[in-house]
Formats: sequence, structure tokens, C-alpha cells
Amino acid sequence: MANLLVTGGAGFIGANYVRHHVATHPGDHLVVLDALTYAGNLASIQDVLDGKLRHFVRGDICDSDLVHELLVKHDIDTLVHFAAESHVDRSILGPDAFVETNVVGTHSLLKAARKAWLGERRRASHRFHHVSTDEVFGSLSPTDPAFTETTPYAPNSPYSASKAGSDMLVRAYQHTYGLTTTLTNCSNNYGPYQFPEKLIPLFVIRCLEGGPLPIYGDGMNVRDWLFVEDHCRGIEAVLEHGKPGETYNIGGRCELPNIAVIDTIVKTVDAAFASDGRLGERFPNSPAARGASCADLKTHVTDRPGHDRRYAIDPRKIEAALGFEPAFRFEQALAQTVQWYLANEPWWRAIQNNDYRQWVQANYAARGG
Ligand code: NAD
Ligand code: TYD
Repeated sequence: MANLLVTGGAGFIGANYVRHHVATHPGDHLVVLDALTYAGNLASIQDVLDGKLRHFVRGDICDSDLVHELLVKHDIDTLVHFAAESHVDRSILGPDAFVETNVVGTHSLLKAARKAWLGERRRASHRFHHVSTDEVFGSLSPTDPAFTETTPYAPNSPYSASKAGSDMLVRAYQHTYGLTTTLTNCSNNYGPYQFPEKLIPLFVIRCLEGGPLPIYGDGMNVRDWLFVEDHCRGIEAVLEHGKPGETYNIGGRCELPNIAVIDTIVKTVDAAFASDGRLGERFPNSPAARGASCADLKTHVTDRPGHDRRYAIDPRKIEAALGFEPAFRFEQALAQTVQWYLANEPWWRAIQNNDYRQWVQANYAARGG
């Protein structure tokens, strides 16, 4: 039995990880620490918390004393660190929060873990797992080889620069103090519980509501898409069998230009309306409700400043070392994702009624989307 502290467990990937871990390790003790920023949502995990084996603590990872207290009080042996500011567009508009949470916050966790695990009450068996992104490696040309674990870091956005800083701190705490760490750099995720500011959930909801689909630039930027459940399986594999001190890239072998992703979303939503007459009544403003295609909503807008052209993961290390491979295929998992947003309208309506609408309007008005 393990005692886990999961930071950012009310966010998109953290919530999926909590749900996955509870399903695969029902006897483990789980403490979720999350500040519930705009991106955190207790509704994403509420049904799996019980206050006995699985606790929720609202708090900031920058509060090193709180983290230390939780590590000691719950006898934590494994810290899985998801908490972050995660959206590139927000990092362009306001980088400070990214440096604060991603760099200072990660350092605060490392300090607490060092004190709890390497201090007076030394815990020989412990693990600090840091969840990071492929964006730290920068942008590839169409012919460049995919990112490996030894590709030099070249972050381009305030988001990726802050994640790169956090990765370096994790490395330094392992190297200097002997903290037992692992680190994963993953490609773009999609799936249930993703905050609707990221490409896939934003566009699914816009298709349902008949709002414009703002395609940045020429829509030919390439991302390597991975279903979130596969990311969770990859992290689990690293926690169970990963070598201390190592980093692993996790990717889907699924490079797609944005326009292909968008066309698949459109096709999937159109097909859902065609096969279920009730959707037209629920979402009367969707072009699909009147027999037209959601493709009519595609709108090219001004490009994101410094927009990385291509990301691609070379996943051979995790495949060879840990036998990990994605289990989900893009079209099928995207259809599953669309079905999840259709079945969980109250989840995203609640978000829309908060600051989401205000932010989207401010951001996309500026882009003309
Ligand atoms: P998210 O924005 O959906 O969730 C982040 C969570 O962290 C939220 O619940 C938020 O409340 C919490 N949080 C933010 N600041 C905090 C603080 N100071 N203290 C405590 N909690 C705080 O992000 P996500 O998409 O789930 O990403 C999770 C992690 O995975 C991040 O570290 C991100 O860099 C990484 N990642 C994301 C992707 C992706 O495609 N989304 C891909 C690769 C890696
Ligand atoms: P995003 O989901 O923000 O992830 P990231 O920037 O971390 O890769 O964006 C994915 C891609 O989609 C990226 O190339 C930017 C593009 N994009 C749009 O074209 N329009 C949008 O409204 C958004 C949010 C993203």
C-alpha cells in the first residue's frame, strides 16, 4: 500500500490520474492538494473522495510548511506533482502566475520533500514524480527528428520556460541532495474533464453552441495527441517501474496538424447530431441542429505570438524500458471525448457561468475570433 500526495488533482490530468489510481489501486491512501484556481474543479473528483482513505486539501503548493505538514501527517511516500498554470495563451497575457506556481511552487514542494524525506526522519523509500511537458524542447521543423529525452531544452513561451525551470530544479534536487525523483515529458492530452480553453474541449463546445472556431494562423501547427487515460497509464508505469533519476517522454505516435484535429471534431459532432435527434433540441444554435455542418464555424484568426510549429515525441525509451504503449486510437478516443462532453453538460455549464466566459471574450475578441 502506498501513501500518495497528488498536487493539482482537481485539474484535468490530475483528476483523471486520481480516478485512474483509485480504480487500479483501491487500497492506496490518497491526499489531493489543489488551490482550486480557475482550472481546478472539485466536481471532477468529488465522487471518489471519502475523507478517510482519500482526502482533499485546498491549499497552495507555494506553502512549503503546509506541504511538509501533509507529508509528515499522512506518512506520504509518493508525491505526484501535476499542479501548474498550464495554458500557453494565458502565459502570454500574464506570465507572473506561471513563474510563481510552476517555478516557485515546484521549488517549495522540493524543499518540503527534502525536509520530510531526507531530514531528521529519513525515509529511504520515497518518490517525487514531476509531470512535465514536451513544450520544454521547443519547436521542430517538419523534417526534424522527434524529441528524445536528451533533446536540449529550448522553451519558447512563458509557460514552457516556467516548466523547463521546474524540470531543472527537480533534476538539481536529485543530483545535489539525493532526492528520489522521476520526471515525464508528455505531449498534448485530450479527454474528459479538460478545461474548455484548450483546443479540443473549446471547439467541441463551440460546435454545440454555434460559436466561431478560432483557428490560429494557417492551422498547420502540429501536435502529438495522447488520450489522457494513456498519460495516466504512462505515469503509473513510471511510478511502479521507472528508474530513479530518469526522465521519460510519453507520446501518442499521433502527430496531427490542428486543421486535421478540428475536422475530426466537426465530423464527430455532425455525426452525433445525425444519429441522435434530441441533440438538435438541446443545442439549437449548432449548425448541425439545422442539418448544416459545424465546419461553417471555422474562422481563421491572428496567430498566437511565438506559436510553436511542431511538437513530436519519440516514445522509444518508455516503450523499451517499461513496455508502455498507448492503448487508445485518436478517432475513437476523440469520439469518446465528444460523448463525455455531451453527457456532462452540467460540468462545463458551471465553468461557463464563472470567469471562463469573461476570459474567453477578452482573449478572443482581441483575436477577432
Ligand atoms: P490544469 O490547468 O487543468 O490543472 C492544473 C491544476 O493545478 C488545477 O486544478 C489548479 O487548481 C491547480 N493549481 C494551479 N496552481 C496551483 C497552486 N499554486 N497550488 C495548488 N494547486 C494549483 O492542467 P493540466 O492540463 O491538468 O496539466 C497538469 C500537468 O500536466 C501540468 O503540470 C502540465 O504542465 C502538465 N502537462 C499538461 C499537458 C496537457 O496537454 N494538458 C501535456 C503535458 C503535460
Ligand atoms: P492548446 O490546446 O492551447 O495546447 P498547446 O498550445 O499547449 O499545444 O492548443 C493546441 C493547438 O491548437 C496549438 O497549436 C494552438 C491551437 N489553437 C487554436 O488554433 N485555436 C484555439 O482557440 C486554441 C485554444 C488553440
